[in-house]
Amino acid sequence: MTSRKALIAGNWKMFKTIPEAVDFATALRKALTSLPPHVEVVVAPPSVALLPTAQVLESAPIAVSGQNVYPANEGAFTGEISPTMLKAAGCSYCIVGHSERRQYFHETDAFVREKVDALLAEGITPIFCIGESLAQRQANETFSLLSTQLNATFANRDREQAEQIVIAYEPIWAIGTGHTATPAQAQEVHAFLRQQLDHSFGADTAQRIRILYGGSVKPDNIDDLMKQPDIDGALVGGASLKLDSFVRIVSFQSPAA
Ligand code: PGA
Repeated sequence: MTSRKALIAGNWKMFKTIPEAVDFATALRKALTSLPPHVEVVVAPPSVALLPTAQVLESAPIAVSGQNVYPANEGAFTGEISPTMLKAAGCSYCIVGHSERRQYFHETDAFVREKVDALLAEGITPIFCIGESLAQRQANETFSLLSTQLNATFANRDREQAEQIVIAYEPIWAIGTGHTATPAQAQEVHAFLRQQLDHSFGADTAQRIRILYGGSVKPDNIDDLMKQPDIDGALVGGASLKLDSFVRIVSFQSPAA
């Protein structure tokens, strides 16, 4: 994992009310008082719980992330949340392009790119998700699909901007299914993505961009995943909702340790 700082992000999806989010954040803050310096921790609560969660985590080494954003700073977009609003609610990260949003809310690659642009303009780090379905993997379309998704967001971008984007590779067939990609399968894809970034931006930039793995990450597979040279962290869904499992994942055995 060279010099990239590991990042473990908990995607709470549509779970936890405001009091539940506040209780969890309070307990997490206590549990992570001695967070290892080689890992950065992020939690992504539902939008109504962003500010109360951020208030609990203020000055703690745990950042707060949105789960979605609309690419405009204000306007007549009923139900949407702008990057400015996310920032005011204490977010320094925001997930974009999650497969659930692509699938259920019909988000396209072009729209996801607009979101990335809007977040970067506000100084919020996008956690940009890509990943193939089982049918695409079985049809040997994984690499062409990922390259299309990656290019849609990274093409015509300067190095400085590219380095601010965190990529999350999440094979759709592994999300919420208990079927995690093997560390070797994940590493193969991560190495491919880094090679693509190398072609577009050169080795220095490619080595600086963090690529997270997501899809059924659990306490019992995190150590092996994090041993892979191109896996720089994890985007964790189900296992981020329980304190003991999330704390265990954050405390993964570092290859450097
Ligand atoms: P999972 O979800 O860990 O429950 O598989 C991951 C994600 O959707 O980000």
